[in-house]
Amino acid sequence: MSGIFVTFEGIEGCGKSTQLLMLVDWLRKNGYETVATREPGGTEMGEKIRAILQSGNRGDVFCIRAEILLFEASRAQHMEEKILPALESGKIVLCDRFFDSTVVYQGAARGIDADIVKFLNVFASHGRSPDLTALIDVDVGACFKRIAASNRRRDRIEQEDAIFFEKARNCYLKLAEEKRFFTVDGTASAEIIHEKIKDEFGRRFF
Ligand SMILES: Nc1ncnc2c1ncn2[C@@H]1O[C@H](COP(=O)(O)OP(=O)(O)OP(=O)(O)O)[C@@H](O)[C@H]1O
Ligand SMILES: [Mg+2]
Repeated sequence: MSGIFVTFEGIEGCGKSTQLLMLVDWLRKNGYETVATREPGGTEMGEKIRAILQSGNRGDVFCIRAEILLFEASRAQHMEEKILPALESGKIVLCDRFFDSTVVYQGAARGIDADIVKFLNVFASHGRSPDLTALIDVDVGACFKRIAASNRRRDRIEQEDAIFFEKARNCYLKLAEEKRFFTVDGTASAEIIHEKIKDEFGRRFF
């Protein structure tokens, strides 16, 4: 039995983690075995890689090739150790960011060739794509306000400027033309967005 693999994407502060938690609650309440996880991270090794990727400040010596390989290293471990076994046992896996983030950030925003990003993504993910990707779309200005309001330290990548995140958002909107994506307006209330994601999940899988 093969499970269902759902990923949440969108720029920083758009509401991915909020929506993932709401969907996980709903699925568990309805009796579905559900694994909630995130990238980078999701495994012991992956969480160490996450700490490396998020530490330091924008502009620190951190070459973009090393950066993408660390994301892919985390993903490879995550796929083999956690996501594929869960899917093989029929579980629903919800992942906060996945390989589309690499297309958008390391590809469109940092400028690594799209074919190279695709190759590395396929390699690290064993060629398994998400069955559904929820793109939560919020404009860059609104996301910046949310991050500022949350009063937490901005990690190395979150310190990038508006142009970087505009590139990322535009790339997401282009990717979302694929059928795998469901795009939702992230400026609505968390409850309304949750209803929409839940409905789409039901339409596709129940
Ligand atoms: N629909 C919404 N409307 C207004 N604020 C929201 C909404 N959803 C989430 N928020 C708030 O915006 C902030 C960012 O939300 P959240 O952490 O879910 O985003 P994220 O996409 O996971 O961010 P990150 O990329 O930094 O992990 C939080 O303070 C959260 O409470
Ligand atoms: Mg989050």
